[in-house]
Amino acid sequence: MARYSHIVGWGMYTPEHVVTNEDLAKIVETNDAWIRSRTGIRERHLVDNPQESSSTLAARAARAALERAGLPPTALDMIILATSSPDHLFPATACIVQDAIGATNAGAYDLSAACSGFVYGMAMAHGLIVSGQANTVMVIGAETLSRLVDWSDRNTCVLFGDGAGAVILQGREEPGGFLASVLGADGSGAGLLTLPAGGSRLPASVETVRRGDHYIKMDGKAVFRFATRVMANATRQVVEKAGLTLDDVELIVPHQANVRIIESSVVRQLKFPREKVFVNLERYGNTSTASIPMALTEAVETGRLKQGDHVVLVGFGAGLTWAAALIQWGPPIPLLPRWQRWWHQAWYPFHRARSAWRRGLRRVLAAWLGTKERSQEEFEGLRSRAGLKKEKKE
Ligand code: UT7
Repeated sequence: MARYSHIVGWGMYTPEHVVTNEDLAKIVETNDAWIRSRTGIRERHLVDNPQESSSTLAARAARAALERAGLPPTALDMIILATSSPDHLFPATACIVQDAIGATNAGAYDLSAACSGFVYGMAMAHGLIVSGQANTVMVIGAETLSRLVDWSDRNTCVLFGDGAGAVILQGREEPGGFLASVLGADGSGAGLLTLPAGGSRLPASVETVRRGDHYIKMDGKAVFRFATRVMANATRQVVEKAGLTLDDVELIVPHQANVRIIESSVVRQLKFPREKVFVNLERYGNTSTASIPMALTEAVETGRLKQGDHVVLVGFGAGLTWAAALIQWGPPIPLLPRWQRWWHQAWYPFHRARSAWRRGLRRVLAAWLGTKERSQEEFEGLRSRAGLKKEKKE
């Protein structure tokens, strides 16, 4: 029996704090007119609380997607989290989210393909589902790029925003859902968009911090040229791979980096109607891996997709990478009755307590083992003082 993977849940979360172009003009030499005309961005949401990070934003989006799907966290078999601003180099931010939402039956890993990461993640989820290795997979894109941006560099700081978006893919027998994908990379362009320090190539040091190598560096013009070319090509290729034409596509949800990139690639090169392209970057800026799931969530919630519609998700990013996926939208997902949603919500505090208990237990165990080691040393000391310890031969 053929298996198909359908999107059954979606959700997003952005931090409350909004920073407008006028706010940025107070810290770097820029202005609203430049940012709007060169990028289309009006404002962005940024974390302003040290407790917030990519994992906390991701967990909020994940909970929203689970609620929309009417699924408890325990239904997830896998969490794939695409991010360029993980909480740590390791452990994977996906594992922190797995614990935060109590997805106790799920494997979890991070995926690093920059802004194309979410579509890469969807392709991986589809592969797991159709090969029978998993049935319910959550794919998240989550970023707190504001923590990696040099706030004195006007070339980059005006572009990025923080946020998270998530979808849940589930195996079904009805045809449709994820139809095709195109994934590409060209590492010869790795230096065009990079965060040089903090990895094994250039470990963090006083010197790297002094040089600002722990901040995002970008050749904007080169990335722009690359983006306009690959967005159009990848869209063409994925439509062809699915055995369709662009006329069959009802909506394109592109990576929300710059409205000029979207207009020059998708609208002008593909001659695709502007009104069938979803754009929300004016309110969020470029949220990297989160931009496509956030835009998709808003597109669904505003009624832009109905059953049977074909939607193309297409992105590009550091690496260099690019990715496109073609999805046939499934039947509407009814919301669960309130009491059942409440029952699912009750899992979160219960699991938080369970997780705290496990952490506590680990600490107690570690302390107990530590005592045992000390006792052993003391024991050895006693043995030697009592002359029971054999003298080492010279
Ligand atoms: O997810 C992938 C992430 N990356 C991208 O998507 C980036 C793709 N690239 C872009 O979106 C565009 O290249 C930018 C928006 C980054 C820059 O736009 P541009 O039209 O390529 O501008 P530019 O770099 O050619 O700069 C034009 C001028 C320069 O001044 P001069 O040398 O002509 O006097 C810049 O110094 O604009 C200046 N400029 C600014 N002025 C005011 C650069 N940034 C700013 C700024 N405010 N924030």
